[in-house]
Amino acid sequence: MIRFEVLTIFPQLVEAFRTVGVLGKAVERGVIEVAVHDLRAWSDTRWRQLDDEPYGGGAGMVMQAPPVLAALRELAGRGVPARRIVLGPRGRVLEQRLVEELAAEPRMVLLCGRYEGFDERVFELGEVEEISLGDYVLGGGEVAAMAVIEAVARLVPGVVGDPGSVAADSFGAGLLDHPCYTRPAEVEGRRVPEVLTSGNHEAVRRWRLERAVEATVTRRPDLVKNNWRRYPAEVRELVRRLAPGLAPEPADE
Ligand SMILES: C[S@@+](CC[C@H](N)C(=O)[O-])C[C@H]1O[C@@H](n2cnc3c(N)ncnc32)[C@H](O)[C@@H]1O
Repeated sequence: MIRFEVLTIFPQLVEAFRTVGVLGKAVERGVIEVAVHDLRAWSDTRWRQLDDEPYGGGAGMVMQAPPVLAALRELAGRGVPARRIVLGPRGRVLEQRLVEELAAEPRMVLLCGRYEGFDERVFELGEVEEISLGDYVLGGGEVAAMAVIEAVARLVPGVVGDPGSVAADSFGAGLLDHPCYTRPAEVEGRRVPEVLTSGNHEAVRRWRLERAVEATVTRRPDLVKNNWRRYPAEVRELVRRLAPGLAPEPADE
């Protein structure tokens, strides 16, 4: 069981998201919880305003520290300890290792920015860590928070019906996923690879593994370097065969 709490000025975005698909079912069954809080509830101005002009001038508005810190502290004070995460482009980039780390947490608060982002004192005083979706700028943190929730929730037992499908996903074993096919057997002259209809389970397993290693060495050689230690002997042999230059020297393994 894991509880996600999202702090945002656009709660309706996340409210729709938490009712749909596999995630929606997991919420319904109580396997995960996704709570959404309107950050404006912590504003004490008449119009529930949270932003103000930047000191020093310049474009855009900045989200004020006092209401945001109050919201963070109030939520953190409720229930089991929570990891406090601000979504933002200066943060640690979300990748599967971080997703696995987060999946071991019982609870996390996900703080979403808008405008030019937060007053720096949110970072100085809020006991937060920053997580980024990647090297580009989004209009707000909500899409990033939803990406964190969706990626983490997939690893929570009981969310995805078949745990085998999670293990076989891209990155699960430090490899990209193999190609998939379904009916019809032929599409515009392209037939499904014969091995997949052979009924030979070992041949299918081997073909999939080879395609996964092939995709990884050609598209994401960086993954090979970062995951070499977790690869079983069979994967290492395939890397050596398909891309000998990527395998570390035995002395460096
Ligand atoms: C327009 S952005 C602010 C960008 C900020 N002025 C900068 O250049 O770093 C508004 C909000 O979107 C969210 N955001 C933008 N890019 C993001 C990214 N790559 N990952 C996660 N959140 C992001 C953050 O919550 C941020 O406070």
